[in-house]
Amino acid sequence: MKKTFNILFVCLGNICRSPMAQCLFEQKALDYGRDDEFNFDSAGTYGGHAGQLPDSRMRRHAKACGYNLNHRARKITSADFDKFDLIVAMDNDNVADLRYLAPNKKAASKVVPIGHYLPANAPVDYVPDPYYGDDRDFRLVIHLLELAASSFFAEN
Ligand code: 4NP
Repeated sequence: MKKTFNILFVCLGNICRSPMAQCLFEQKALDYGRDDEFNFDSAGTYGGHAGQLPDSRMRRHAKACGYNLNHRARKITSADFDKFDLIVAMDNDNVADLRYLAPNKKAASKVVPIGHYLPANAPVDYVPDPYYGDDRDFRLVIHLLELAASSFFAEN
């Protein structure tokens, strides 16, 4: 039996980008019949929204695209750096925070930017924080994560 590959998506608050990434990758894995190969979860580098459902704007935009977000926000723990094989950060601040929070070098080496999975023709090479933005910013999060998921499942 194939080993399950554990992937953790991380943003700042774990209420917009990373729960969207988790849900979208879970749905794509199901669509491709590959859900037995992967385990996805998400967390934030900041714990101020812990226990909350995703931001209502993110949930509304997700729903309009057929995704149902029901993750509860949580802050990343040092155990996550052990449990997960890959920790995918939404932007460069998240990468820097994760490398700082990593308990050791091996843990830090698991951190990769989402840009690694974005095609060269993507409008930006990270997933910008939509929290202080408008509808376009939330739609862009979904668009970028759709692009990243397509290239992830094509490559892996
Ligand atoms: P996220 O968005 O990192 O994509 O979940 C944010 C959520 C909360 C805050 C900033 C960004 N905040 O400042 O509380």
